[in-house]
Amino acid sequence: MAITQKNSCHYFGPRHDGSKPAIKHGIHYTMETLRYMTPYLYSKKIIDLILKRIPINKQPFDVIETSGGIGGDTLTFAQSPYFNRILSFEPKHDRAMMLCNNLREYRIPFAFQKEPFEKTKAKVTVVRRPFETVALNSQSIVYIDPPWASPDNPKPGAYLNKTDFMTQNIKLGDDTLEDLIDSSKAARLIALKLPLAYKIKKRAGFNYEKVLLRNKMKIIFIIK
Ligand SMILES: C[S@@+](CC[C@H](N)C(=O)[O-])C[C@H]1O[C@@H](n2cnc3c(N)ncnc32)[C@H](O)[C@@H]1O
Repeated sequence: MAITQKNSCHYFGPRHDGSKPAIKHGIHYTMETLRYMTPYLYSKKIIDLILKRIPINKQPFDVIETSGGIGGDTLTFAQSPYFNRILSFEPKHDRAMMLCNNLREYRIPFAFQKEPFEKTKAKVTVVRRPFETVALNSQSIVYIDPPWASPDNPKPGAYLNKTDFMTQNIKLGDDTLEDLIDSSKAARLIALKLPLAYKIKKRAGFNYEKVLLRNKMKIIFIIK
């Protein structure tokens, strides 16, 4: 199925000026990447839920996206006036390139880095590397949308069913989600997008809140 102008908004949403992006297969997305991309309306809902949980008088916040994919959430963060800079890690070259192409299509200023990243002044910094811990403070939001299927069950090109989704022990590189939460504790808010049946191991000293999105996914918020 090709994305047409009619259905592209389901995944990509409108541009800042309300016009529709010109999205092309192989440049902005592939069918494989659409399987895990956050569709626009879900992404908007997640970001609205984040905004309700951070004090309006303390905005704007910086966002650290551990795993940017092709930018379903990056675009929505970047189009929102309530966030300052977005740092987005994505180790796969083709996905990082699509993420850059998508930012370009939406006319969002971005910088691209392959080496250990340095702070840039761009709205979005795409880092084509596995996530690495960064310095955080009370103006930071950490957004974690990890792969939902086990790397041992990759089914290349195949559609992933609910039964393929992990219910525990999801990792990003060598880090468990619990490790990522521990290393992000200085942030104002941590948001994780997870399969509905996922069971996170709660750690003492953190406040967890769960929101289910239409029987499709679970968002866990950890708020300071
Ligand atoms: C569920 S997808 C993210 C989708 C993204 N929110 C979007 O809308 O396009 C998870 C991404 O994590 C990436 N990933 C895998 N290992 C990673 C790592 N160690 N560090 C950062 N990202 C990683 C995968 O390549 C994949 O693109």
